Amino acid sequence: MRPAKDFFAPLAVGAPAPLRDIPARPSRAIHFFDPSNAKMAAKVPQMVGTVDVLLGNLEDAVKADNKLAARQGLVDIAKSTDFGPTQLWTRINALDSPWVLDDLTTLVTEVGDKLDVVMVPKVQGAEDIHYVDRLLAQLEAKAGLERPILVHAILETARGVANIEEICGASPRMQGLSLGPADLAADRRMKTTRVGGGHPGYLVRQDPPRNELGVADVEAQRTTYQQDLWHYTIARMVDACAMHGIYPYYGPFGDIADTVACEDQFRNAFLLGCVGTWSLHPKQIAIANRVFSPSVEDVAHARRVVAAMGDGTGAVMLDGKMEDDASLKQCLVMVRLAEQLAE
Ligand code: GLV
Ligand code: MG
Repeated sequence: MRPAKDFFAPLAVGAPAPLRDIPARPSRAIHFFDPSNAKMAAKVPQMVGTVDVLLGNLEDAVKADNKLAARQGLVDIAKSTDFGPTQLWTRINALDSPWVLDDLTTLVTEVGDKLDVVMVPKVQGAEDIHYVDRLLAQLEAKAGLERPILVHAILETARGVANIEEICGASPRMQGLSLGPADLAADRRMKTTRVGGGHPGYLVRQDPPRNELGVADVEAQRTTYQQDLWHYTIARMVDACAMHGIYPYYGPFGDIADTVACEDQFRNAFLLGCVGTWSLHPKQIAIANRVFSPSVEDVAHARRVVAAMGDGTGAVMLDGKMEDDASLKQCLVMVRLAEQLAE
């Protein structure tokens, strides 16, 4: 494996279990671009340093006629760009498509030294990761690469969700998991045509008022609360990723114009444990960078708790609230994330 920085190394007392031997480089926004689109491709070098991850997309959203141009476009961009602090990822075509073998062969052979992570779509089980893992190992050896390319799976089939734990643990290359809400909705036969986000029909309604006889007035005006369609899947992803020491990510939010709802969805994912999300438009980069960085106030509070807890054991009262060994661990998650992002 490439040399890794232990995410929680300096925290001897009460630190959460270290993430596996994968680099803890920030990846709050994974910005997608189509390398076959000359206008988009031309902007890539200017985006270096403004976003944590630039991802050359070869799969869905690239027309079948443009698949070869996208692959070659990514090779050209990778060769001619110094990515500095920004990571370069790619999303290859699906494993049952006619393009994927050439995607991997060409990219690893030509620009494997520049490529940090390969995102694999529509992963169904550990066998898909094993296939990519073995292929990468052969191609890396042939190209004389010294740094392994990591693998990121998109969760976008019901079978993938059922096999989530084995997918996360399928290879030491596994870096993380993203939600693929559009494909997953279709595979599950969900009745939403939106790409990520909520749905106005998925709600719960406040209880009806009742008269003195206890009869409910169901026609009365009542508040409704929209629920999060993706809560279950994100929560499963977070647990599976935490168990295997890899990183969970939200995924695409297709309503580019609705920056407010986008921010809400990203924040829900952040609060539940995700470390980042996809960006489909430059304006989503700023939202992701903001949401997936802990707030100054939260970090300041977390540092106060760490200081107040001394050797990390026992209980203290701070601002009328009880803090103990467990809440210290929560605070350390926040402090370490802030430190990592500041590096
Ligand atoms: C992303 O690939 C999705 O299907 O939502
Ligand atoms: Mg998809």
